[in-house]
Amino acid sequence: MPRLADYKAVVDLRDFSGVLQCVVDNSVDVRSEYVVRITGTVRARPEGTINSSLATGEIEIGDCEVEILNAAEPPPFPIDQRADDVDESIRLRYRYLDIRRERMQRNIRVRAAVNSAIRAAMERQNFVEVETPFLMPSTPEGAREFLVPSRKEPGSFYALPQSPQLWKQLLMVAGMDRYYQIARCLRDEDLRADRQYEFMQLDAEMSFVTQDDVLAAISEAVMSAAEAVTGERPPEIQRITWREAMERFGVDKPDLRFGLELIELTQIFASTEFKAFSTAESIKGLCVRAGEYPDTAAAGRNRLDALTDRAKKLGAKGLVWMRVQAGGQLDSPVAKFLSETEIAALLAATGAVEGDLILMVADSWHNACEVLGQLRNDIGRPPVHEGPYRYVWVVDFPLFVGVDPVSGKPKPGHHPFCHPHPDDLDKFETDPLSVRALAYDLVLNGWELGSGSIRIHEPELQRQVFNRLGISDEEADRRFGFFLQPFKYGAPPHGGFAFGIDRLTAILAGEENIREVIAFPKTQSGLDPMTNAPTQIDAKQLAELGLRPLPPPSNA
Ligand code: AMO
Ligand code: AMP
Repeated sequence: MPRLADYKAVVDLRDFSGVLQCVVDNSVDVRSEYVVRITGTVRARPEGTINSSLATGEIEIGDCEVEILNAAEPPPFPIDQRADDVDESIRLRYRYLDIRRERMQRNIRVRAAVNSAIRAAMERQNFVEVETPFLMPSTPEGAREFLVPSRKEPGSFYALPQSPQLWKQLLMVAGMDRYYQIARCLRDEDLRADRQYEFMQLDAEMSFVTQDDVLAAISEAVMSAAEAVTGERPPEIQRITWREAMERFGVDKPDLRFGLELIELTQIFASTEFKAFSTAESIKGLCVRAGEYPDTAAAGRNRLDALTDRAKKLGAKGLVWMRVQAGGQLDSPVAKFLSETEIAALLAATGAVEGDLILMVADSWHNACEVLGQLRNDIGRPPVHEGPYRYVWVVDFPLFVGVDPVSGKPKPGHHPFCHPHPDDLDKFETDPLSVRALAYDLVLNGWELGSGSIRIHEPELQRQVFNRLGISDEEADRRFGFFLQPFKYGAPPHGGFAFGIDRLTAILAGEENIREVIAFPKTQSGLDPMTNAPTQIDAKQLAELGLRPLPPPSNA
């Protein structure tokens, strides 16, 4: 009669580095997620039990002595890849279990490798790490701020930093020369795959530099991080101007992983009889090759109607579609309005042949580009984390974008502290919308990784920009005085950049949502199901801060 203890059971022993099969006596009561110490002998697995899909699949531990260090309740979801299908709020409620999984262990380590490589790259380039305050005045940087009530000054608030922009420019005035920080930033924005309330930036600023110097320093940090994760250093990052990005891809964060570039058609229809085209400033087209994007190229009426609806939602007045048939015949409700010469020129410009689909939008230059750019992404863009990494610098952003309908003044493209392009200063009064800024973005697979600019350090130029924006000297002093005052004491020319570490890490880790590379993120609706934050505060604590909640808004 064999004794009970002679029966063997196989258990998976897991730690941060992976799993290992252990053969234990059946009498040992180990269950899922128990914490154990196992002593035994590493040996080759018996023939027939080798698992080649596992890094440790050829070995096991035998003759195990098992010490149970802690028992565990059954986990709410399996601690393996099956948890990927578990509801997000459950995963986040038990994030400490979720992180036990291989995917999260890997992602968090990828993140650490990114941070470490960035830090080393910045130190190598003689940047000095400086920590900047979390409690600061409210500043007009664009996003909605998180506010912190002051106990000592009831009714007054600190703002949490949207970015260390203010501080890093002051550090340049303070003669620090090259600053960097891996900085936590907070913005009260609607959350999306690439946005959390809290996120991390590599934030940097440099004195006495040109745009090229900034781009080189940041490229070094990004490429070092990419190399640390993938083992391969990306090739030198290509540059295109904002204008070219809009012309070719219809967006300021072009995804270069696929073609389907916009085609310029305005001239072809310069004297057309087709009303929608003859009255438009600009006509742009896309040519979707048969078979390349099957969903669209084999387009039935439903798909074409959906594209038209989408174009209209994006602000287009309409969308012209043309299916190219045998002999260059066009199947389109609009074909009858076009002359033979126009059709021939259109086919030549697009290179469209039988089976291809042509899409066209006529509008202002900006709208025509933008609508088709979105359709291009809808039709062709792979998920952000797939395929090759395509980095691109987009440079020469416009200093002003559009005109404020109320004041009639141009609106700042980025913020009012970006340096205008020195070659465009003469167009400042005559043609402000054509003035370029020394402002640049870094884009990876269609995501904006980061942005920066050379800043204005000359008070007189700053005053001119404010005036052009309709901000008087008095208003500028009132709103930005604490920022402008220091520049009167000798500010070096300077510029900088910040990129999102969560975004870079997500793409390098092969994740589509930055949440997957953050240890303790918020849900899409901004909640933390584990701690239940945000929580109600009791009346006493509120009173201490001089706060009283308003009654909830009535639905009436
Ligand atoms: P900007 O506002 O463009 O520039 O931000 C820089 C980068 O930070 C990341 N980022 C975010 N990541 C996750 N969640 C968010 N809510 C979020 N918001 C921004 C993005 C973005 O490209 N002070 C300037 C930089 C400068 O001019 O030097 C700034 O903050 O990757
Ligand atoms: P309409 O003349 O408004 O009936 O439009 C005729 C066709 O042209 C429809 O298919 C519209 O979607 C399209 N269309 C109208 N305006 C534009 C425009 N600005 N750009 C592209 N297509 C347009």
